Amino acid sequence: MSVKAISQKTLGGPDVLETVEVPAPRPGTGEVLVRVAATSVNAADWKLRAGVVDKLGPPPFTLGLDVSGTVTEVGADVTRFRVGDEVYGMVLSRSGAYAEYTAAPADFLDHKPSSIDHVHAAALPTAALTAVQALREVRAGQRVLVHAAAGGVGHLAVQAAKARGAYVLGTARAVNHDFLRALGIDEVIDYTTTDFTTVATDLDVVFDLVGGEYGPRSLSVLRPNGRLIDAQREDALTDPRFHRHFVTPSGEGLREVSELVRRGQLRVHIERVLPMADAAAALDLSESGRVRGKIVLIPWDAA
Ligand SMILES: NC(=O)c1ccc[n+]([C@@H]2O[C@H](COP(=O)([O-])OP(=O)(O)OC[C@H]3O[C@@H](n4cnc5c(N)ncnc54)[C@H](OP(=O)(O)O)[C@@H]3O)[C@@H](O)[C@H]2O)c1
Repeated sequence: MSVKAISQKTLGGPDVLETVEVPAPRPGTGEVLVRVAATSVNAADWKLRAGVVDKLGPPPFTLGLDVSGTVTEVGADVTRFRVGDEVYGMVLSRSGAYAEYTAAPADFLDHKPSSIDHVHAAALPTAALTAVQALREVRAGQRVLVHAAAGGVGHLAVQAAKARGAYVLGTARAVNHDFLRALGIDEVIDYTTTDFTTVATDLDVVFDLVGGEYGPRSLSVLRPNGRLIDAQREDALTDPRFHRHFVTPSGEGLREVSELVRRGQLRVHIERVLPMADAAAALDLSESGRVRGKIVLIPWDAA
């Protein structure tokens, strides 16, 4: 059986992406085959497409870190999932989820919460795990600043920190302030008109999803025993309060995400749903740095 996938023969701009027919993937040991109902766009995707990030090796490969869909085949040594289960989670392979089917490690998946559809579930895994794992040590009453609070990771980080009882501040353009207030943020700073270091002080945690000078400037308003958690691939700062953060695919972590969703403490915002045929345009939107929440892609037939 052949299936549709988005593939690229070379690294480069949007026009390297093409729809191809490939043999249906088979689940290896510890994996399940998932019929993709939806996947979502992460900033990593356009970086991988262009070769700015080199995690997949040389092309051809298929992008797509997030999946939500139905298990259609179970590989050896998988006991947690059965054919027909609705699952969501991460795929970290050269045969990603911008496709009709993808094989994913069972350990990277969880059962999809029944309270959300596949579009919302597909928007969660990478972004929500990044947020929840980064903010695991946040305690009630702490002051937490999230940079790029309106983005895919940021708007989930705001909610994850609120769920931990923190006082949460965020940087965003004014157009996103009402959106963030509806998610429970305590203070929003328009970084286009206000230097955040003049209004956000005595911080216990800064979660930096922007990079550049944001890191050093954040250190100036961080408490002596605070933490600057940096999700950007920059040279490490020498300050002992600086911590680099990388998301770890984790079914266990997703169970925590699922629980927050069930409790109504984590709501993912979907900015656009596009057909996979429009993957190039979706990645352009992501690269613009202006997306509020997440963009979701659905397969050809579903579209
Ligand atoms: N290390 C890891 O494991 C890991 C995991 C996931 C993501 N990341 C990285 O984290 C970054 C954010 O990811 P994402 O998926 O959240 O990206 P995203 O959804 O594309 O972020 C877009 C948001 O960034 C905001 N923004 C842009 N410039 C800003 C600035 N100067 N100050 C404050 N906000 C700004 C925009 O809000 P406004 O319109 O309000 O400006 C927009 O809503 C990316 O670089 C990504 O590669 C790292």
